[in-house]
Amino acid sequence: MAAKIIAVVNQKGGSGKTTVTMQSAGTLALRKKKVLIIDGDDQNSAVEWASMAPEGMPFPARVFNLAAAGRKIHQEIKKYYDDYEYIFVDCPPAADSPISKSVLLVADLALVPFIPDGLNMSAAVRIRDTIEDAQVMNPNLRSLLLLNRVEAKTNLTNEVLDLLPDFNMPQAKTKLHKRTYYPETFLTGSTVHSLRSKAKDAIDEVESFTDELLAFLDKPLVYSQIKEKEEAHG
Ligand SMILES: Nc1ncnc2c1ncn2[C@@H]1O[C@H](COP(=O)(O)OP(=O)(O)OP(=O)(O)O)[C@@H](O)[C@H]1O
Ligand SMILES: [Mg+2]
Repeated sequence: MAAKIIAVVNQKGGSGKTTVTMQSAGTLALRKKKVLIIDGDDQNSAVEWASMAPEGMPFPARVFNLAAAGRKIHQEIKKYYDDYEYIFVDCPPAADSPISKSVLLVADLALVPFIPDGLNMSAAVRIRDTIEDAQVMNPNLRSLLLLNRVEAKTNLTNEVLDLLPDFNMPQAKTKLHKRTYYPETFLTGSTVHSLRSKAKDAIDEVESFTDELLAFLDKPLVYSQIKEKEEAHG
């Protein structure tokens, strides 16, 4: 088995890297896939998230921190290739950190959570450029933008969304909306699934995004070709 490596990256702090990592990796683990989450951030948020789980109801995937490996983190990650199907790396909020750069060298996918407001646009440009630099060394690397914390459309949101087609990065069709259930699951050390029917809309969007993620990982070239065609035909 050779694990698919998903680097969850963005220059911008608070864009939802840890939230997206825990929800999508946790969803795959609930589907009985072999999933490892590597916390690449010395804030240790992913590890703390899992540590909030009550006794007898552990977070569905294994989580540990490898931030101390610094720019050698890709060598550490390789040790786990054969034991897992999916390895998610929750990266620190800095595009040019040695951790983000090293993980991108071995990743199959750079997953970029993005809050559609003006402040996040310039940070997203930086992470896109970092991903493009990494693609020179790692031609297998694909990227996918995931809109997160989406709220009812404001003029500003609309302006940012209008710019996205020029951004040159495939965008997931599913969006994660701003919902209190996401912070709530940090406190319960779980995914939104544990909140059951009251969080149905959150569960549905996380499940839908996870389906998209799998399709993207399974057929990255075909997917991006379709995307390019769609864009070319407006
Ligand atoms: N879709 C959402 N709806 C509501 N709150 C959200 C959503 N996504 C993230 N949050 C909240 O926003 C805050 C930042 O999210 P998170 O910690 O996942 O971001 P991050 O990119 O990992 O941050 P950092 O750069 O500090 O590592 C957290 O309080 C989280 O609960
Ligand atoms: Mg984080």
